[in-house]
Amino acid sequence: MTKKYDRRDFLKNSGAAGIGLAIGGMVLKKASAKSLINTATPQDGHFINKPIERVRIGFVGIGNQGSGHLRNLLRLEGVELVAVCDIHAGHRDRAVKIVEKAGQPAPKAYGQKGIEDYKRMCDENKMDLVYNATPWEFHTPICTYAMKTGSHAATEIPGSITIEECWKTVEYAEKFKKHCITMENCNYDSTELLLFNMVRQGVFGELLHAECGYLHDLRGWKFGEAYYPHDWRLQHSIRRNADLYPTHGLGPISQWMDITRGNKFEHLTSFSTQSRGLKLEAIKRYGKDHPLAKTDYALGDVVNTVIKTNRGQTILVTHDTNSPRPYSRRIVIQGTKGLARKYPDEKYSSGHKWQDLEEMKEKYDHPLKKALREKSQGAGHGGMDFIEDYRLIYCLRNGEPMDSDVYDGASMNSVVTLSERSIAAGNSSVQCPDFTRGKWKVRKPVPIVDKV
Ligand SMILES: NC(=O)c1ccc[n+]([C@@H]2O[C@H](COP(=O)([O-])OP(=O)(O)OC[C@H]3O[C@@H](n4cnc5c(N)ncnc54)[C@H](O)[C@@H]3O)[C@@H](O)[C@H]2O)c1
Repeated sequence: MTKKYDRRDFLKNSGAAGIGLAIGGMVLKKASAKSLINTATPQDGHFINKPIERVRIGFVGIGNQGSGHLRNLLRLEGVELVAVCDIHAGHRDRAVKIVEKAGQPAPKAYGQKGIEDYKRMCDENKMDLVYNATPWEFHTPICTYAMKTGSHAATEIPGSITIEECWKTVEYAEKFKKHCITMENCNYDSTELLLFNMVRQGVFGELLHAECGYLHDLRGWKFGEAYYPHDWRLQHSIRRNADLYPTHGLGPISQWMDITRGNKFEHLTSFSTQSRGLKLEAIKRYGKDHPLAKTDYALGDVVNTVIKTNRGQTILVTHDTNSPRPYSRRIVIQGTKGLARKYPDEKYSSGHKWQDLEEMKEKYDHPLKKALREKSQGAGHGGMDFIEDYRLIYCLRNGEPMDSDVYDGASMNSVVTLSERSIAAGNSSVQCPDFTRGKWKVRKPVPIVDKV
């Protein structure tokens, strides 16, 4: 049985939160209708804004991942870091120093006044972009406030953690005619770019099936005070049984399968195993009497979700972060003419035997990777973080549509909540909302870009 969850159901079924959203929805409905005739949000659903010669940026959340992005941005032409905001004084001061070391004037520093001090940053500065690498629960509040106060927004993953938030990003982007980008760096990893080009060149024929996910033993990170001082990541595992981090796999697969651009997620079903790894880890680290050893963790150790697309394809997405295992995003892409896989090794096949994917590189290396291979060396996550930041700034400076826009972000991020609902409803099939409101039929697929 397919359980339909659309925006109307959500409003009907949710209590106080739903009332707040309904009020927002009323105001925003008018704006999104208007947006259809505005050039910033044309009917085909691609946000295109005027080129920005010098992109003035405010950066919120400059911890582990944020400081990498900050360094990348400072290496790019046409970027000015006007403000930084972090509630952690040490991280804030470090960010100011990073900016100064790159030869720019000291940015204004915010965060001293607590978790909503980003609002002061947005209110007091004229910025083109607010870049956000805070913990998950702040992503949508910061992005929507940034759009409301006149900036584009880019956020680390997952950009939204509820369906309400997914809709809110879409509605604010449409109302304020701003980009709101979920920054999925794996779209720009070398192998994913190679496979993207192979997909576009028709090497796999018509796509049938994909597998992907986030399979990363995070027990050390979730409990390790040194990495996440306030256990913020662990808290999500305590509260939710869901695919908490779907975009590392779904980012590239969505682009290859033209999701929100000629295709869309139709419905999904999720299964989770029992939850064991986090409790065992807590007992090992702190002893059986520690509160964390007595905590019941909602998150199943392995969560598998199967998504059915409008074109009939299937996508298996896995979230697996609580038990010992080597890192993987378990990429498989399969079509009528062949298939390829990544993790643990990289192979391609158009028959009964595997061959090394490396052999396809000479012919199908993505032009973007070719052009930026050298420049991206040494940057975070094998250079892909640099390429993603490069593309963000390039698109803003050239007034081009983003590789992954607010609709793509909402579609991927919604899998967090949809998988949770499916599991909670005994693995029922759950309908995926159409955040484009029908524009997926005319939106153009992401091209293979070669301009840098
Ligand atoms: N794409 C990737 O490969 C990748 C890798 C690591 C992390 N991430 C993502 O990046 C984000 C940050 O992760 P991290 O590992 O850098 O975490 P982190 O805890 O190291 O950094 C978060 C920073 O945000 C600050 N902060 C928290 N709340 C704030 C608020 N309200 N206002 C201002 N600052 C605030 C913290 O003080 C900290 O400096 C998360 O969304 C995470 O999922 C992505």
